[in-house]
Amino acid sequence: MKVLLTGGAGFIGSHTCVEFLERGWEVVVADNFSNSKPEVLNRIKIITGKSFTFYEADVTQRSALDKIFTEQKIDAVVHFAGYKAVGESVAKPLMYYRNNLDSTITLLEAMETHGVKNLVFSSSATVYGENNPSPYKEDMPLSTCTNPYGWTKLMSEQIMRDAANADSNMSVVLLRYFNPIGAHPSGLIGEDPEGIPNNLFPYVAKVAGGKLPKLGIFGDDYPTEDGTGVRDYIHVVDLAKGHAAALEYAVSHKGIEAVNLGSGKGHSVMEVVTTFSRVNNIPVPYDIKPRRAGDLPSYYANAEKAKTLLNWEVELTLEDMCRDMWKWQTQNPDGY
Ligand code: UFG
Repeated sequence: MKVLLTGGAGFIGSHTCVEFLERGWEVVVADNFSNSKPEVLNRIKIITGKSFTFYEADVTQRSALDKIFTEQKIDAVVHFAGYKAVGESVAKPLMYYRNNLDSTITLLEAMETHGVKNLVFSSSATVYGENNPSPYKEDMPLSTCTNPYGWTKLMSEQIMRDAANADSNMSVVLLRYFNPIGAHPSGLIGEDPEGIPNNLFPYVAKVAGGKLPKLGIFGDDYPTEDGTGVRDYIHVVDLAKGHAAALEYAVSHKGIEAVNLGSGKGHSVMEVVTTFSRVNNIPVPYDIKPRRAGDLPSYYANAEKAKTLLNWEVELTLEDMCRDMWKWQTQNPDGY
């Protein structure tokens, strides 16, 4: 099987690339390094001992996609490419809509022209919005995203649903990620955010590594067990395996399915901080700060559908996420 990974040099894309190569699948990566570094490609080769084809390409450009689909006999696509910072999307909504929707539509058009029928999409639990109760289940109504980034995921899902409904030979799996964190256990690839991280785990790792003085915990007065926010964290290696399971499903079925990739279990910010300190034997100084605008108190997945439909469930724990995150941080204190 030959698979195109758009955004395959990014955090989740690179771990998925490793997983696919280890399964013996042929991989073609398209990435424009808008939020990734060329060095990741070398690291993937070191981990797997395998080679793959790389195109420096912007998937909003139809000519770039036509070149790839003409030169490669692609069986399936995993579409990761897209902007993903929630706060930035509020400040620059048009940039987010233009890039994330253009890439989705352009990719679907190119797939149609070149007869490629199988697609796995990098969606997000953010599509459940603010009104659904946890655990989130795939058949819940989706209607109220809290930021433009979330809307681009919801709109992309809808566009893919309509495209799949119009072509009975298409097969699409929409993967709704919860909170992907951690790194490959080799410590060779991991998350490499530009500047000061927005997300909890990269921030904790930078504080533990002495690159930032203190973590700010955004709110300790939520209606949760210890008052801090609760999320369903998922190890990026488990997530990568979820993509392999989704792809195997896609190539052997027709139609469209949305599937949560989460553990089904929530952990609080305080639990993350204490677990990281304990597992890695390193202090993580913190202050309690006011709540961050737009944050929900608590959410986590109903993970049953992934189990029954894809035969996939998480294997790694919060301890594994903390250990692997720290290995990546200590081996790459300034990223790639
Ligand atoms: N948090 C802190 N301090 C920080 C950063 C985060 O206390 O410095 C807290 C947040 O308040 C929240 C938790 O840690 O309670 C997790 O926050 P993240 O920013 O790591 O993740 P979010 O749940 O806010 O968002 C993530 C992804 C989004 C995605 C969303 C939906 O970043 O892309 O999950 O699943 F849309």
